[in-house]
Amino acid sequence: MYDWLNALPKAELHLHLEGSLEPELLFALAERNRIALPWNDVEALRAAYAFNNLQEFLDLYYRGADVLRTEQDFYDLTWAYLLKCKAQNVVHVEPFFDPQTHTERGIPFEVVMRGIKAALVDGEKKLGISHGLILAFLRHLPEEQAFQTLEQAMPFRDAFIGVGLDSSEKGFPPRLFERVFAKARSEGLHAVAHAGEEGPPEYIWEALDLLKIVRIDHGVRASEDERLMQRIIDEQIPLTVCPLSNTKLCVFEHMGQHNILDMLERGVKVTVNSDDPAYFGGYVTENFMALHEGLGMSEAQAKRLAQNSLDARLV
Ligand code: HPA
Ligand code: ZN
Repeated sequence: MYDWLNALPKAELHLHLEGSLEPELLFALAERNRIALPWNDVEALRAAYAFNNLQEFLDLYYRGADVLRTEQDFYDLTWAYLLKCKAQNVVHVEPFFDPQTHTERGIPFEVVMRGIKAALVDGEKKLGISHGLILAFLRHLPEEQAFQTLEQAMPFRDAFIGVGLDSSEKGFPPRLFERVFAKARSEGLHAVAHAGEEGPPEYIWEALDLLKIVRIDHGVRASEDERLMQRIIDEQIPLTVCPLSNTKLCVFEHMGQHNILDMLERGVKVTVNSDDPAYFGGYVTENFMALHEGLGMSEAQAKRLAQNSLDARLV
């Protein structure tokens, strides 16, 4: 029924690899690594995927990521995501990974990087999916730790294309990371950041002016600030919007209230992405479907959104 949406060639520009960990794989990795889980089965875990806000989701997301221990685990995680992309005509991906989520648990940076990178390279060779990996700093941790993470990453400089900023937004404004972003940019890395998901438009201004980001992750609260909207339109700064994530985390009460199509019609370069598909109920095609069903997205609008994602690639 939604073949026309699935068939559109698309790029995914806002995807946390750790958020693509499906419950089935989570249980399989727990067994492989002999880790006890607090849920009896896959159904019990899925039943826990009910969130009132970003933090409730993050608590479970970090808990789930604990089953990722070996290079093979990170390979399997990434490969499973790429197979989904292949099935949905996602031809290019720029995924995030959160090294601090793993190094804090004693997993060496290179284990994470090698597993992910090997799968991405295989995805390119065997599935024809191109990629650019983005290293995301956790904003609930101090900038000093972001600096350490960047330092750990530099021997693998060629394996990633940019840095991002994610995790708990409220109370952790972009200005706290101005220096580490400057350092990353001086290494030739692109800068992106989550801003304006739960946080106010001021955080989007800071991300643009202080972190000098070239793309805004989420950014849906930009619509509260007319001057900001005008800038985003004038400069054609892309927004990586995640509709199912936004409704699951109660950024919008229901899809009928989402502002993505209003922004599209105003000339904002908005794109459709899945964020954490294992937790929010769908990959890119399901996000397009939700816009069609909940917001009346037309075929012409879907085509523009898909084209925007291809235009907004960093590589
Ligand atoms: N927002 C912030 N941090 C995240 C998200 C998100 O939607 N997903 C994974 N980490
Ligand atoms: Zn995100």
